[in-house]
Order: sequence, then C-alpha cells, then structure tokens
Amino acid sequence: MIHASEPRPFSVSEPGLRPSACRPSVAVIGAGCIGLAIAWRLAAAGCRVDVFDRGEAGRGATHAAGGMLAACVETEPGEEGLLPLTRASQALWPDFARDLEAASGLPVDLRGEGTMVIALNADDAAKVRFLHGFQRDLGLPVEWLGGAEVRRREPYLQPGVAGALFCAGDHQVDNRKVATALRRAAAAAGARLHEHCGDVALALERDRAAGVRLGEALHRADRVVLAAGAWSAGVPGLPATARPPVRPVKGQMVCLRMDARLPLLRHVVWTPGTYLIPRLDGRLLIGATTEERGFDDRLTAGGQFALLEGAWRALPGIAELPIEESWAGFRPGSRDDAPILGETAVPGLIHATGHHRNGILLTPVTADGIARLVLTGETDPLLRPFVADRFTRMGAAA
Ligand code: GLY
Repeated sequence: MIHASEPRPFSVSEPGLRPSACRPSVAVIGAGCIGLAIAWRLAAAGCRVDVFDRGEAGRGATHAAGGMLAACVETEPGEEGLLPLTRASQALWPDFARDLEAASGLPVDLRGEGTMVIALNADDAAKVRFLHGFQRDLGLPVEWLGGAEVRRREPYLQPGVAGALFCAGDHQVDNRKVATALRRAAAAAGARLHEHCGDVALALERDRAAGVRLGEALHRADRVVLAAGAWSAGVPGLPATARPPVRPVKGQMVCLRMDARLPLLRHVVWTPGTYLIPRLDGRLLIGATTEERGFDDRLTAGGQFALLEGAWRALPGIAELPIEESWAGFRPGSRDDAPILGETAVPGLIHATGHHRNGILLTPVTADGIARLVLTGETDPLLRPFVADRFTRMGAAA
C-alpha cells in the first residue's frame, strides 16, 4: 500500500536577493506555468533568468487547462507511482498561491469546496465505488456520499444522482490567473521574459548546454531548462539523447456562463465522461476530450457534443446557459504519462516537461525541485523517479 508522503519544506525564495555572480545564469525554454514558476523561484533566489517562448507567455496548455488540483480523485489503477509527487505538490499549493498572490498583487482564486465524482445510475455507481475503494486503500482522504447528500450539497444535479466519491482536499485554482500572476511575480523578481521568439533552439558547446539560439543570436546561460510542454520534443538543437518522449494530447473544452450570484454548481464535479469546474466569476468550464491528433487544434462537432451532452446529463440546467468560449489545448503527454524532470544526458540541460494531465497541480513541486537542482546540484528524492533516463533504462532492460 502506498501512502502519500508529507512534503518536506524547501524554499528557494529569498526576496531581495540580487543576481549573483556565484549563482548560475539560467535560460528557460517555455513560458507556461512550469517555466514561469521555475523562473520566479530562481530569480527570487538571485539567479539571472531569461525565459523564452515561441509565442505568448501562458497561452499553451496553461491557458487551456481547467486548474483542478485533483491528486486524489484522478488517481486510477497503474498511477500509484505518481502519487508522492502529486500529493506533495497539492500540499504545497496553499502556500504557493499565497506567496504568488503576495509577490504579484494578483488573485489566483484557489477554491476549497472539494471535488465530487458522481454516479448517475447503478452502473456508474459500481465503477465509482470501485474507484473509491481503490483510492481509500491507497490512504487517500476520500469518502462516499449517498445520493441525497450529494443533492443536498449540489441541488441542481440530476435528481436521480446515485451517489458520489468526495474528496475535500482536491481543490481548484484559476489557471489563467495563475499564469498572469506568475508572469508578474517572475518579472518583479528580476526574470526577463522574451515572447514571440519563434523557434528557440538549444545551443551546445563541446556537448554541453551553452544557452539558447534565436536565429543567429546566441544567448549564453549556465543552465538551460526545457519547459516547452507539448512542444518540448521539437525544440531545435536537442540531441537525440536528450529529446524527451513527449507528444501533444489534445483536449477540447467548452465554457458556459452562469449567474455568479446564483451558480448552478459550487464543487468541481466529475461525471461519466466529463468534468465541470465552476469559477467564482460565474464561468462554468466543461472538459475535456482526450485525442491523439498531433497539433490539430480544430474544435469538432463530436468533441463539443460529447462535452455538452455529458454535462447536461448531470446538470440539466446548463441547457439554458449561454456558451462563452470553446477551445482546444495540448497536454504534454510522455511515454508513460508521468512528467520528465531533472538532469539529462547533456550536461547543463534540465528537463521540466511531460506533465500531461497534471501541469497546474505539479507546478509548485516542479518549480521548487528544479530550482533546488539548479542552485545546489541536488535532485530532490521526490523528483528522482521522474528523471529522463528511466526511458533508456527501460529500453536497456527490455
Ligand atoms: N486534468 C484534466 C485534464 O487533463 O483534462
């Protein structure tokens, strides 16, 4: 049986430090929440940090995500190995959000109502009860709610709702607000952001990472952090030995507009096939498809229909709500669906990618762990199982 380990405090934020000659300079490729959070932590610790993005900061998976911090209810059989990392990061989120709000002066809307996985009929109930038993046996803080109790907590759910798995600790945050706040906090700490760079290539000198190349220009850095999400494998200049096995896993979403004063829903709710995320401002996010279509970002009738139909079966009142926005994003899925974190076969190059369905959840633990690696050369034991060499070791064992 695996129990989630308690996170050990590790702080690299030392406000007021100036870039120091004895601290490494860092180039981060990718300005999503992972890259920006790493940049914030390192700049606050006194490093000279430059973040490069092919487009606009925070507009990739960070913008497309739902912001669920669901370390417990999203855990399915076969994913036990990820739990120490996801639970540690979940525990870091309240302090991370508080520090980020203080550093940026901006809210990130961390909400603590918890998450329900509802069953709409007897078949669903058998599946959700199995999930409940599995998660409970892992020591996760989940409980079973009967149908009447589910309706008491969420009165607009379908009247026949059969029951729900509930996790009080699986919170949500507004990921778009997190991106805006990270951008502001990183800049306030001294990090420099370079957007719309097009291709940002890794620069090598004597087989070591020497910085990044933008066209003919070389930007030198002591360390390069690859945090380019679904685009990580395509970064030019990466030798095959350091190319992370990451691919885009498309997810479509729809956003409806509720009355913020009388919302139809307060908890994050998983239904068979979809999830619903109510925001404080009245937006109701419905997600998400899982599609292997490369970087094709077109919305499809089937994808949008499946989301709306799945949500309507659980929450019939959505039929009256206006559609505000629809979008598709790309989860960075790795070969084993776990992130790729830490040192690589190329000295000076560090991976922080492949977060798949958990990028927002894993932001604090990734930022602290990668900052620690850059500053001290130590790999946090929590990150060790996720180093890229696991793929070559698996290959060697095969
Ligand atoms: N974590 C939710 C998703 O990837 O759709």
